Amino acid sequence: MFTEQNRNAGRAMVTDSIAITFTLNGATTSIDVSCTHTLAKVLREQLGLIGTKISCEQGECGACTVILDGKAVNSCIVLAPEVDGCEVLTIEGLAQHGELDPIQTAFIEEGAVQCGYCTAGMIMSAKALLMENPDPTDLDIREALAGNLCRCTGYQRIVRAVSSAAKKLQTVDAGSMKG
Ligand code: FES
Ligand code: FES
Repeated sequence: MFTEQNRNAGRAMVTDSIAITFTLNGATTSIDVSCTHTLAKVLREQLGLIGTKISCEQGECGACTVILDGKAVNSCIVLAPEVDGCEVLTIEGLAQHGELDPIQTAFIEEGAVQCGYCTAGMIMSAKALLMENPDPTDLDIREALAGNLCRCTGYQRIVRAVSSAAKKLQTVDAGSMKG
């Protein structure tokens, strides 16, 4: 029988918070999160990392893309407790020692940013691609970015930027192997 007590127990279950510890942009992070909050919400509202954008909140647009254990994910459909013990990389974690990531630089150089709302998500999907495949074809790039929607650029400049970043990174890697 469904009693008031059951109802209250149910409410308590959904509002409960849980302590999680994960690696965020290279730093160990411990935080209490609501069991019902998404990673995107926690990043933006509890941790102040507003570079990760929220748009559809249904896993359809890619604006909220972050890298979770090496894979690009839509953080609006990942529950925050699921990242306990995981590694999360957000757009704020890309620049190193004050230098933009080569993908960020390429987006600027190729004019791949207009309103910018999709940009962080695009760059994180591109980053995950280049971590796995440093020498992607244009088709590989288009496939990797298929879940990221942009209503401004027409995509061509974005694909060009990712391709250009890949080439630059290969040159840097080849140089460091020689050196
Ligand atoms: S806001 Fe997450 S996929 Fe659209
Ligand atoms: S630059 Fe505006 S949505 Fe992509």
